[in-house]
Amino acid sequence: MKDPRIAEVLISAAQIRQRVRSLAAEIRRDHADSTELHLVGVLNGAFMFMADLARALRRAGAPPVHYAFLRARTYGTTLKGSPLPQVEIDYVPRGLEARDVILVEDILDQGVTLQAVCAHLRERVPMRSLKLCVLLVKDLDRMSPAVKAARRAVRPEYVGFHVPDRWVAGYGLDAGGELRDLPCVAAVHEKYFT
Ligand code: IMP
Ligand code: MG
Repeated sequence: MKDPRIAEVLISAAQIRQRVRSLAAEIRRDHADSTELHLVGVLNGAFMFMADLARALRRAGAPPVHYAFLRARTYGTTLKGSPLPQVEIDYVPRGLEARDVILVEDILDQGVTLQAVCAHLRERVPMRSLKLCVLLVKDLDRMSPAVKAARRAVRPEYVGFHVPDRWVAGYGLDAGGELRDLPCVAAVHEKYFT
């Protein structure tokens, strides 16, 4: 039976599986000279993507991968751009000095979270490289100048899919704390979550 909170499935579980596999192949190809990789997942949204990417990287024959997480909470995202939301970051992982790091995030929306997390890491840790891997990029209909600047500052090397400017949930992403366990990515009816 269809969940009444779901407006439309945008990306099926099979499409996600296939894309995660090809992302792992891309990551492996780009890191042919790395002896090890360090993936840092942004909690909570990236947990499912990270788990599948981990298995796909092993299948793709990537160098040994270490896994760690940090937590980012972004407040005030309902206002599209002004004022910019605040980002609170904790559990910054240790041992990333001189490492090849890939930050794994669920979605790039206004760009504020990833901009803050990247700046936070770069200020504290001299890494060998830092790349960004996001499952979803939201194609925003309208952007304030501040959001435009944040989006320009964040250019992920690895992108799973583009999604329209709607609230999406599933595969780790939540709508009002719910639906993270959907196997697909779906647009939700916002009336259930506001
Ligand atoms: P930002 O707007 O790029 O800073 O994204 C803020 C955070 O909000 C992301 O890391 C996600 O965790 C969350 N987020 C943004 N858009 C969505 C969405 O459509 N569904 C679920 N979470 C979202
Ligand atoms: Mg997030």
